[in-house]
This record gives sequence, C-alpha cells and structure tokens, in this order.
Amino acid sequence: MGKDVIVACDFASRQQTLDFLKQFAGETKKPFVKIGMELFYAEGPQIVGEIKGRGHQIFLDLKLHDIPNTVKKAMKVLSGLDVDLVNLHAAGTVAMMEAALEGLTRPDGTRPLLIAVTQLTSTDQRSMEEDLLIREPLAEVVMHYARRAKAAGLDGVVCSPLESAKVKEACGAGFLTVTPGVRFAGGDTGDQKRVMTPQEAKKIGSDYIVVGRPITGAEDPAAAYRRCVAEFVG
Ligand code: C5P
Repeated sequence: MGKDVIVACDFASRQQTLDFLKQFAGETKKPFVKIGMELFYAEGPQIVGEIKGRGHQIFLDLKLHDIPNTVKKAMKVLSGLDVDLVNLHAAGTVAMMEAALEGLTRPDGTRPLLIAVTQLTSTDQRSMEEDLLIREPLAEVVMHYARRAKAAGLDGVVCSPLESAKVKEACGAGFLTVTPGVRFAGGDTGDQKRVMTPQEAKKIGSDYIVVGRPITGAEDPAAAYRRCVAEFVG
C-alpha cells in the first residue's frame, strides 16, 4: 500500500453508492473507497463484499470503542469481511488496541491495516476540558494518543492534515497518517474548518487523503478523482 486517495462514499443506500461507483468503471485503477457507519448500518456487511467484488479497496470507518474483549471479537468479524483498513478510538486504551490487533489478525498472519482516531475534529479544547475532563492542550493530547497507538502496534492514525507532520516526527515516517479535510484550490470548503489541497497534503507527508464532497459532489466525479490522484500521488 502506498500513497492513495480514499473516496468517502457518504451515501445512505446501496443503490446510490453503486450508481456513484459505476462512474469509475472505465478507470484503470478503481478508487479506494471509504464506507462509513451510515451505509454499513443501513445495508449490512454484504455491502462491503459487493463493493470489494467490483475491484475497490475498502476503508471501513466504524471507529470501534468498547471493552477489549468485545472489540477483539468485533475485529475478528471485520477481518473476515476482507476490508483493507479499519479504525478504532485510541481513547479505548492500549489494552483495547492490542486486543483489536489480535482479533484482526487472521490465522495465516495477514490482517487489514488498523489506525486510530486520536481526538475527533469535532472536539475542541473547551469540550475536551468540560466533557472529558482532559486539561492538557488538544495538540498534546492528539500526539499522546498517537504515541499510545504506536506503542500498541497500530499502523497509524486519522488526523487533520495540519497534525500529519508532527505525528510523523513523534511516531516515525512509517506510521501512517490518514487525513480528511482536503479541498481543491479555490473549491468550496463546506463545513470543514481546516483544509488543505491534495498537493499540500502530499508535501506534509500524509499517506492517504480521505476526500468526500470534492469528488462525490463534482459534475464529473471521475475527472475530479483523477485530478486528486494527479495532485496527491503525482
Ligand atoms: O466531504 P468531505 O471531503 O468533507 O468528507 C470527509 C470525509 O472524512 C467524511 O467521510 C468524514 O466523515 C470523514 N472525516 C472527517 N473528519 C474526521 C474524520 C473523518 O471529515 N476527523
């Protein structure tokens, strides 16, 4: 796995998703696809197989967070779905992350990549202090959680493009950073507050960018995808 663009298929149904993906039928390389909670809960695990069967790699974004034994068993189920990348909350502790890795590892030793969410981008300093009673600066909390994910043996973290370089500094160049919040230069930022172009994300060292609306909402999604790949992968 190298640098790649992951297309966030934030659709509510199987039909909408498959109709969207049909537009990439002519591409030599089918896009890496992100399936989130909405689609997965609406359509069930078979949606993963259906998209995978069309030649796409899959990032299953379910952000698991529970006691270690429950997460281990859930991850075992997910590894059987033949997904390529899955995630969990680092807040679940190192014990939970280690259990997740164990559950995810197949009898032949292979497993999907596993990355952690440090702090959600919807959490700010104030809500972290008031709701979570964490009083350290948010940036330090993100770095601490990234280091704990690394210590647990995970492959990387989801982080904002602005945190990517620091995570690499702290956890090593091989520790993956997967970054949403990407927009084309001059494009509509929507509800994303801190954005970067694919070229900028490439420069700061992100391994994967997760791109939704700039591709799903484009007049020609396949062309927008190709532009994104050209700018990010080169
Ligand atoms: O449409 P847009 O490009 O903003 O979509 C970004 C995708 O990345 C969405 O699927 C969103 O859920 C996801 N994401 C995010 N911020 C995070 C984690 C995931 O925007 N911190």
